[in-house]
Amino acid sequence: FDITILGHVTVVIVGGTGDLARKYLWQGFFQLYADQVGKGHTFSFYGGALSTTEKGTPLLFDILKELACPAELSVERCALVKDQFLHLSKYHQLKTTEDYENLSQQIKQQLGQEGIIEAGRLFYLSVPAFAYADIAEKINNTCRPPSEAWLRVVLEKPFGHNLYSAQALDKKLSGQLKEEEMYRIDHYLGKQVVSKILPFRKENKKLLDPIWNKHHIERIEIVLKETLDAKGRIQFYDQYGVIRDVLQNHLTEVMTLMLMNLPANLSNSEEILQNKLNFLASLQHVDNSNAVVGQYQAYNGEVQEELNKTKDYFSLTPTFAGVVIHVDNAQYEGIPIFMTSGKALDERVSYARVLFKSNVFCVQDPNNVQCKSKQIIFYLGHGTLQYPAILLSKNLFKPELVSSGDWKEVTEYKDVNVLGLQLSDYYIQSPVTPREAYCELISHVFFGRKDSFISAEGLLASWEFWTPLLEGLSRVFPRVYPGGVDNGNLLNFQLKGHQVAFSHEALVNVINPGAEDNFQVMQGKYRSSEMVSAWAQELVERLASDLLLAAEEAIREEGQFHLALSGGSSPVALLLDERCVPHTESGSNFRSIHDLLLQHIRIPYFNIHPMPVHLTQRLCVEEDGGPTLYEKEIKKHVNGSSFHYILLGVGQDGHTASLFQDTKLENDEENLVILTESPNKPHQRMSLTFTAINRARRVGVLIMGKSKHELVSQLSRIKGESSKYPITKVQPKSGTLIWYIDYDALLG
Ligand code: BG6
Repeated sequence: FDITILGHVTVVIVGGTGDLARKYLWQGFFQLYADQVGKGHTFSFYGGALSTTEKGTPLLFDILKELACPAELSVERCALVKDQFLHLSKYHQLKTTEDYENLSQQIKQQLGQEGIIEAGRLFYLSVPAFAYADIAEKINNTCRPPSEAWLRVVLEKPFGHNLYSAQALDKKLSGQLKEEEMYRIDHYLGKQVVSKILPFRKENKKLLDPIWNKHHIERIEIVLKETLDAKGRIQFYDQYGVIRDVLQNHLTEVMTLMLMNLPANLSNSEEILQNKLNFLASLQHVDNSNAVVGQYQAYNGEVQEELNKTKDYFSLTPTFAGVVIHVDNAQYEGIPIFMTSGKALDERVSYARVLFKSNVFCVQDPNNVQCKSKQIIFYLGHGTLQYPAILLSKNLFKPELVSSGDWKEVTEYKDVNVLGLQLSDYYIQSPVTPREAYCELISHVFFGRKDSFISAEGLLASWEFWTPLLEGLSRVFPRVYPGGVDNGNLLNFQLKGHQVAFSHEALVNVINPGAEDNFQVMQGKYRSSEMVSAWAQELVERLASDLLLAAEEAIREEGQFHLALSGGSSPVALLLDERCVPHTESGSNFRSIHDLLLQHIRIPYFNIHPMPVHLTQRLCVEEDGGPTLYEKEIKKHVNGSSFHYILLGVGQDGHTASLFQDTKLENDEENLVILTESPNKPHQRMSLTFTAINRARRVGVLIMGKSKHELVSQLSRIKGESSKYPITKVQPKSGTLIWYIDYDALLG
């Protein structure tokens, strides 16, 4: 080869002394160099970072001297190649525009002196995404090669946080770089098995076509399980979480390659992209009902530590997700695609599996090949198998080898079980030499193979699919799991129609502020009493479960349970205060509680006691003696007039039940029920008194919604009673008071 014809390639790793560069990138470029040396190109390599040359040079050298020899090189040859590589690599400070200008000058000068033409410049941005736009601008302004040479800029995810930020980033970058110059990496596309999904489907098209559809496929699973946690990278992880970290990109890519229409020509990037986009567009919308999320228990402590947060800070970022996806087209309609990933699980493994329906019923001989599950597995690595492979149940068909040169059929069967079958039950094919995904992709950048990278359109299409779910989940409490094998069945989830739910109930998780334990519902103190706080949905669930517990306890001990509920907007209307309107009218507390609750539960009507506001065809007239009547009823039914549970709300003005600031309470000492006047319509009310309320064994006060935030703050500042806020008079004599305050009301 004539090196003056193929020319010189300059590689610049921006962030060249960082973690990713240390772990994968330098090794990848070393491999590229070893593969390409002597084949016509010349190279130089720069590691760039913010530090000065004096500081950066030894850091880079420390990384380079640890590089491992590629398997195919002899020790002597490797020593030689490595020595050359070290000579060609140097550190360059890359901070200011002048630094970039200076780098470009240096490249030009060197090539001028040596009389070599320039083939191209490859910038690998291994820096946080917020720095992309600025670096792209500097490259565009100062480091473009002459027009005959190419410029390729490699970017690492995250590419945005949702559809809108991805669009904004795309806009900024496309102002500086052309689409063909940008190589967005998803390292899963560099995994050997992933890059062979399309070739495998193509090679075996004839046999796959009849079964690759809803009539034959039972379900699809796309799985990335990790034992590792997020410790040490919470700065990044807490802003993203598992869905953005791996589902939106890696697992979506795998799903797409499995289910998109096969392109007629596998080297036609345009056609591949179009088919990918068509597939993504055919996905059914997913929302909270299609997903379950979890968070490993130690995570929140790690967040507090790494983000310098106080002990009462909690993060809703999921570290586990299970999602079910459906495709809206005739071919795949109705097939559930389970996609799942999590940190701190019991094993490290990733695979995509297509499980086929079986119509055989095996009466005997379950080990007969026809009785075993029929599946195709794209096994990406780790797990029980330990190497990447494509596996096909022997009862399906014998597949063609995906690539005759660098793939082999495996016929030695270790005694291991892979997803329910012994290895000997599969036809297995696997790469001859395992290669790191980054090595593969670096070589693909070098050869300009754009179809191994993420296009702007593909990226936005994927975000478009995931963004609504991410928005929906942003307020959902992840289920807390202990981590590792202790997770047991806690994270198992199951299909319910087109939706999913955890298969097993979780115990409510409670944090005591300051404790290591995690949250689901936060427990603290408010006005010297217990407080439970959570987002509205979880709060109400917790309240309902507390009520149930109280009911079960009372029934166990006394055979009966007396509950009084009030009206208003938070606790939906019940029987301890009432508006003086007929029970059939919509303003009636009884009417709303009937519509919202009573008609849905099996409770005999003679166990329900609405307040008698409508007597002798008149509403709340003193002489009709409604309060006395109701008081008698209470005394008759409720032992010692002490309700087991009273649930109250609080109005914006601090009133509770129908006890207002101006309510005269002279007789309150003796009476359990009185008529009151509300400043709001309807003015006439009937209400339990504080005497009755404070006799209860338990009193819950439910406060929800942003509009109550001001009130919640004011009440927290008032010590003891205040005549301005009747709720402060709720002080059960021997019972307990619990505040249920949602985060909107608590935090505003
Ligand atoms: C990365 C994620 O993209 O992929 C990590 O940021 C995750 O959180 C990793 O651990 C998984 O990749 P692999 O190759 O180990 O399966």
